[in-house]
Amino acid sequence: MGDGTSETKSSNQMWGGRFAQGPDAIMEEINASIGFDKKLFAQDIRGSIAHATMLAHQGIISAEDKDKIVHGLSTILSEIESGQFEFSRQLEDIHMNVEARLATLIGPAAGRLHTARSRNDQVALDFRLWVKEELQKTEKMLTALIAAFLDRAEEHAETVMPGFTHLQTAQPVTFGHHCMAYVEMFGRDRSRVRHAIEHMDESPIGAAALAGTGFPIDRHMTAKALGFREPTRNSIDTVSDRDFALEFLAIASICATHLSRLAEEIVIWSTPQFGFVRLSDAFSTGSSIMPQKKNPDAAELVRAKTGRINGSLIALLTVMKGLPLAYSKDMQEDKEQVFDSAESLELAIAAMTGMVRDMTIRADRMKAAAGSGYSTATDLADWLVREAGLPFRDAHHVTGRAVALAEQKGCELAELSLEELQAIHADITGKVFDVLTVEASVASRTSFGGTAPSEVKKQIAWWRGRN
Ligand code: ARG
Repeated sequence: MGDGTSETKSSNQMWGGRFAQGPDAIMEEINASIGFDKKLFAQDIRGSIAHATMLAHQGIISAEDKDKIVHGLSTILSEIESGQFEFSRQLEDIHMNVEARLATLIGPAAGRLHTARSRNDQVALDFRLWVKEELQKTEKMLTALIAAFLDRAEEHAETVMPGFTHLQTAQPVTFGHHCMAYVEMFGRDRSRVRHAIEHMDESPIGAAALAGTGFPIDRHMTAKALGFREPTRNSIDTVSDRDFALEFLAIASICATHLSRLAEEIVIWSTPQFGFVRLSDAFSTGSSIMPQKKNPDAAELVRAKTGRINGSLIALLTVMKGLPLAYSKDMQEDKEQVFDSAESLELAIAAMTGMVRDMTIRADRMKAAAGSGYSTATDLADWLVREAGLPFRDAHHVTGRAVALAEQKGCELAELSLEELQAIHADITGKVFDVLTVEASVASRTSFGGTAPSEVKKQIAWWRGRN
């Protein structure tokens, strides 16, 4: 389509030998992938240099031809990087655009580059290299997001806020603990990224069209040159496989889902009604009509981008579903989904990292909310179990009556008098008031992984020790 590409009606110069006539304009349009796969130019050239070097090492092409090829490819790389390269839609894709230009630059030696390979293993290689690099970038970005949360958690290990279930006040927690929940989520995303890199760390080049080749190639040599652990083991699977792209999209979808939950919390927390956080000017927008407004647009857009990323996963799963082995042209539809998701995910992680670093935590508002809604009712029930020896179910019932009384009186649990509490259960003593404050409540929750500041600090130290 419209990307400065040229159109003619002669048969294709790369594969047109048996064709008397060129493709119909519609055929050319539906067939071409250059509009998007030109993004793979650096990987394509890197792969070709490794392939040509191996061919010469194995005596399959001459050292002289190899030198010409490598030199020509380096020239093409700088042409593309400096924006001088003219991409042609008639040449379909990045692979044939590069090869055709190589022929113009170095003549007949260019025709030797495609010995013992096919575009099927070539595209599998280029795309794998691209996805691997993207995963490495994602890993770094997640590390920055985790670091932002660790800093906020450290700063607010003692800051009390309401913990919610069903978005109803449940029990007091610390803001530091809440931050560490996100550290766990993004930490899992990061290990998924690391595992995916390990899964896909095999070189496809040399699988050729699908059956391997009769030329005495050395796939271990190309694998090593391209930074892969080893070559893939089955040539049919190699050209049929897009698991690495699916894994990327699955990881991106789960990560985006985590980001959307954070985005949603930021939207809620920044409302005047909650007022738990104040967004920085740098990460919010104003309204063109209502002067008082400060909108969490970045968070809303992160929430929305999740839809796009999840959609890409479903799109590629559906493309791959039911495809017979080995390569089918359907698989050309893999790239746009991955490119679009990668761009969206990078932006979403970067935006959330900025928002988390920049937002002001309103500890006073959090604390006031933490104490409302009978958030320490469980602490009263636990006290009755511990100090008065009641079975938990009975303690739950007694506490329920105390909550009902407080509700009827329009006061908090800690505002009931000792006499009122004793009228509900005779064994209650004045000591109970020690556990009814939000600070006492969080300080008591010292179980492994619990919300007590002492425990949260241990969690932070553990994460600081990893990378
Ligand atoms: N542009 C193609 C793709 O992205 C490259 C592989 C084409 N192979 C072929 N035999 N037509 O999948």
